[in-house]
Formats: sequence, structure tokens, C-alpha cells
Amino acid sequence: MKVLVIGSGAREHALVRALTLDPTVAAVIAAPGNPGTDALALNVPVDATDPASVVALAEQHEVDLVVVGPEAPLVAGVADALREAGIRCFGPGAEAARLEGSKAYAKGVMAAAEVPTAMAHVCTSEEQLAEALDAFGAPFVVKDDGLAAGKGVVVTEDRAAAMEHGLACLAKGDDARVVIEEYLDGPEASLFCICDGSTVVPLDLAQDFKRIFDGDEGPNTGGMGAYSPLGWAPERLVDDVVARVAQPVVDEMARRGTPFVGVLYVGLALTSRGPRVIEFNVRFGDPETQSVLARLESPLAVLLAAAADGRLDEHDPLRWSPQASVTVVVAAEGYPAAPRTGVEIGGLEEIAAGDLAESVHVLHAGTTWADDGRLVSSGGRVLSVVALGEDLEQARARAYAAVDLVELDGGHHRTDIALRASRGEIHA
Ligand code: AMP
Ligand code: GLY
Repeated sequence: MKVLVIGSGAREHALVRALTLDPTVAAVIAAPGNPGTDALALNVPVDATDPASVVALAEQHEVDLVVVGPEAPLVAGVADALREAGIRCFGPGAEAARLEGSKAYAKGVMAAAEVPTAMAHVCTSEEQLAEALDAFGAPFVVKDDGLAAGKGVVVTEDRAAAMEHGLACLAKGDDARVVIEEYLDGPEASLFCICDGSTVVPLDLAQDFKRIFDGDEGPNTGGMGAYSPLGWAPERLVDDVVARVAQPVVDEMARRGTPFVGVLYVGLALTSRGPRVIEFNVRFGDPETQSVLARLESPLAVLLAAAADGRLDEHDPLRWSPQASVTVVVAAEGYPAAPRTGVEIGGLEEIAAGDLAESVHVLHAGTTWADDGRLVSSGGRVLSVVALGEDLEQARARAYAAVDLVELDGGHHRTDIALRASRGEIHA
């Protein structure tokens, strides 16, 4: 198989890496890719949100499968255009991608499919916003209705801050909407469900760390680290979430004539009243994918091609490494507000050549080659350092030993990824 991966982050580097480990894959093309994928795949430029240029690229390289990493191309209709051109694509069409593209749309689907989620009000005016905040009370949960790269949500005890974020969302345009939700308590988990329009195959659970600072302090980011599996999660959780969330949603999308093909990313809060959906995404999560794919032993291209073909019901049960995996994101100085770019990155060769190489791999995200050939930072989340170990404690130790070898002036990372889980302090 020849596979085209759309995107340029550490998630896409993880996808490319897993695809190249699949013996059925002859070549991988990454568009646009990054300096990390460059070592494994052919990097080619693309206008990823222009459906016609993605189709042209897939035709030019005669690929057998296109895997779309980020949400923006999906919302723009890239998967529809590929399927119309007869090209196999793993990723939902634009209408189904609204599950992520609009929080209000997702709430509507959840209501129709009777999926347990937070109660919510969709507001279009300042008056409605104020009423909704007072109806739910603190802590306030205020969500931009549209895509916001993981940064559109504010959770705060401070009513003025909640109001300010809500008004900023409403100021984005005449049809801007803001969603106010009931606060959900309890640990969070991410479950990636591979869907083919009717059948659902869940991957293993992971947990993400969205806040910038240790102890879940500071603003939300795209994600600062992740680990898998979740030893603390109830044994039946995955089956429960498929039965009560993913399958009903996939059935509802099929009923609407907009079948869901791709990853249904179910973001959950494990509350005292049971699992509740916090959000849907329509693609692999970043950085959870880095941890989950590090443990997947089944060939990834075979799985994604089966989903694209509507043949998941014939797929063998997935095989998983019993090891634990921890991903630590190394971020640029100033991230998430104003990341400093163009900073030289060092230490990667040392990691690849040393004792850690067997259990650690470093995935690129915000990196680029400078004109003079040096590897420099080009974004907020610069690298994902992924480690495997016999347990979370060992995986953590290895990940942080490698992070210590990374040289990035002003760079920062969380030091508590998977810490509470490794100490047995999380209870669902
Ligand atoms: P989202 O973009 O919807 O995933 O929200 C980002 C983060 O905000 C989530 O990972 C949660 O930590 C938090 N969050 C979102 N919705 C809620 C809620 N209803 N209750 C509590 N926390 C929430
Ligand atoms: N890890 C959060 C996300 O991918 O949206």
C-alpha cells in the first residue's frame, strides 16, 4: 500500500511511524509533514484545506489510502472530495465532521442518540449568556461553538472571566454562538473509536493533560502530555462507552445520511454518575495518539483501510503491547500565548544514539529546517517525547531522562505527566 498522510504535527509523525511499521505499507507520503516525517516518508507541500489540491496530490502519487490528521481539512470537505474521486480515505466528510466543527451540532446529535453528556445552553446574545451562567453557577464552562484548536474552552470560578470569554466568542461574527455547560467533575479519559460508517473498533484508553502547568494550572493548550493505558479505569469502561456513546452516534450519523468514517474521538469525564461526554473530535487526538500508537501492535494501515472500505466487521481483534507509554510535550518559550520560534533544537542525536533509544522515540511537531540546515522551532508544541516501560513509573523515568537531553532555549514542559496515575492516586 502507498499511504498519504495529511498534516504536520507530532500526531502525524506518530501516524507515519506506525504506518511504516506495517508490512503491507510500501511507501508513505506526508503532506506537508515535518522534519521528523522526512526521515521516514516523502514530504510534499500541500494546501491541506483545499480539497482539489489534496485530490490532485493523491492522484499524482497514485496512493491507495489517504489518512487525514487534523480537523480543518475534514471540515473543509477534503474526505468528500477524495471519495468522490474514487480515492480511499480515512476521515469523515464535512457534514459528519461538524461533530467537532460545531459544539452545538454535536450536542444535537448527542441528544438524538441519547448519549450522556453535560447539560448545555447555546447562546447567541449577551443576555442569554448571562442567564445561562447564572442558571448553572460556578465553576463556569464556556465554549466557543466553532473550531479553536483546543483553546476555545474556559473553565473558571470567576464569573467576570467567564463572561469575558463568552463575549469574545460572540464577537467573532453575526452568527457566532457560545455554549455554556454544566460543570463535569471526575477524571478525564480519551477513547479513539475507529469507525467505518456502521462498525466501531475502539483503541485503548489514554489521558491527556490540557493545562499548561503542573497540577493542571494555567490556560488550556493543545495538550502537554499523555499516557496509556489507564490502569485506574473500570474494566468495562471501553465496552460501555462504545455501547452508550460511539455506536449510538455512528448509528445516528448513518440514519442522517452522513455516515461517520474515521476516528470518533470521545473525550469523557468519569463522573460519580457515570461517564459523560465532554467533547467529540473527528480525528486522532494530539498528544494521546503518540502514546496509543506506541502500544498498538496490529498493522495500522490494514485497520484504517478496513475502516475506509466499510469492512471493520471483518477485522481481527487488535493486539496491544502490555507496556505503558508516556508522552511528554516539549513546548516553546511563551507557549501557548506567544510561542518563540526560530530557536535551535539539540540533543536528538544523543537520544537516538544512547541507551534510551530502545524505549524512547522523539516525534516532531513545531520544527523546521533553517536555511543554514539547523533544526529550529517553528511552533508552540515543538516535540513529543514518547517512552515505553514495564509500568508508568518506568515509562515516565525514561521519557523525562530523554526530555532532559533535549536542548531548546526557553523550552518548557510539564513534569507531572502520568505522575498521579503512576502513584495510584486516580480513582474513577
Ligand atoms: P474541550 O475542548 O471541549 O475538550 O474542553 C477542553 C477542556 O475543558 C476539557 O478537556 C476539560 O478539561 C474542560 N472541560 C470542558 N467541558 C467541561 C465540562 N462540562 N466540565 C468540566 N470541564 C470541562
Ligand atoms: N488532545 C486533545 C485534542 O487532540 O484535541
